[in-house]
Amino acid sequence: MQLGVEPPALTSRQPHDIAPELHDAADRPAVIRAILAGIGDYLPEHIVTNDELSRTVATNDQWIRERTGIRQRHIAQPHETCAFMATRAAQAALANAGATAGDVDAIILATATPDQAFPATAVRVQAALGARGFAFDVSAACSGFIYALSVADAFIRTGQARGVLVIGSEVYSRILNWQDRGTCVLFGDGAGAVFLRRGEGNGTGADTGLLSTHLHSDGAYGDILYVDGATGRHDKPAHLVMNGKEVFRHAVTHMSETIDEALAANGFDHSAIDWLIPHQANMRIVDAIGKRLHLSAEHVVVTLDQHANTSAASIPLALSVAQADGRLQPGQLLLLAALGGGLTWGSAIIRL
Ligand SMILES: CC(C)(COP(=O)(O)OP(=O)(O)OC[C@H]1O[C@@H](n2cnc3c(N)ncnc32)[C@H](O)[C@@H]1OP(=O)(O)O)[C@@H](O)C(=O)NCCC(=O)NCCS
Repeated sequence: MQLGVEPPALTSRQPHDIAPELHDAADRPAVIRAILAGIGDYLPEHIVTNDELSRTVATNDQWIRERTGIRQRHIAQPHETCAFMATRAAQAALANAGATAGDVDAIILATATPDQAFPATAVRVQAALGARGFAFDVSAACSGFIYALSVADAFIRTGQARGVLVIGSEVYSRILNWQDRGTCVLFGDGAGAVFLRRGEGNGTGADTGLLSTHLHSDGAYGDILYVDGATGRHDKPAHLVMNGKEVFRHAVTHMSETIDEALAANGFDHSAIDWLIPHQANMRIVDAIGKRLHLSAEHVVVTLDQHANTSAASIPLALSVAQADGRLQPGQLLLLAALGGGLTWGSAIIRL
């Protein structure tokens, strides 16, 4: 069911309106917040280690581990399409939230590797779930999940939806040039999903839910990371092309900048962060950002060693892993940040 825009009984605040004080909530009017109600994931069964890769391309485990931190990646089999993995992750997120397909008003799916140009993969997921409402894809490469989260937040805060599935699902194995050792060792397949539910807060940083999102893009850098054609299952092969050094430089700079703006917008110091959940591209990028934030490794969720770079799926996959092993607890503050082809980048702050 798609809900109409509701009367302005509840005021929605922008991040810059939110006062830093966490204790003056009593007199504030209620605001709508998107609450992170459930998290789920799906990973292909087939795992390829660095050693296995070194049998088909001129690379080795030591180079990959030292330059990236990656040890292995999951690779989709033919039946593990973008829609298949997204559906499994979405079902897991709904179950985790104690929700059903009937609670879903919208599905927003971030991917750079859809099964078809159209219909959107999100619509395939909608059919598989038996959900109503509306569904569409978001294309922002590795920042896609943050973009989708931001759109979902807007739908919830304007009253257009009460329950939104936000999914990142990727099959990069289908767009990699498996002869190019500079790119094929870096990526993996998988899907992660969250279910967001409408809730209320006081408009302070103490609220539960999505506190802010910040998005950026700069098309001037469109040629340092791109895919040279269409990507659907039946299209002719297209390959990912990357200038690794340039992307690395931009990733550290822009992810750090957007983290700073997210903290400033909410009046938080870096010490307020319980978990930094960055896009999982390269351990050296994650380390550089963690260091700038004075965050010890114990406050950074890292999955790239197991999953490699799963693009739009990497952050929800990391959320799911951290929830499953008990690291995520109610009341904690999560800082999400990503950079991807476009260039696109952005951040989100969520209180559990
Ligand atoms: C890709 C990346 C790991 C390469 O690391 P780097 O330190 O820049 O390495 P270089 O590209 O300079 O390559 C150094 C050498 O290793 C070689 N090399 C590249 N890939 C290799 C591999 N898989 N195995 C072994 N050697 C490899 C290069 O050919 C080069 O050899 P040379 O010195 O003889 O010419 C790094 O640039 C990176 O992670 N960039 C960011 C990528 C990213 O995050 N992309 C996604 C963003 S969403």
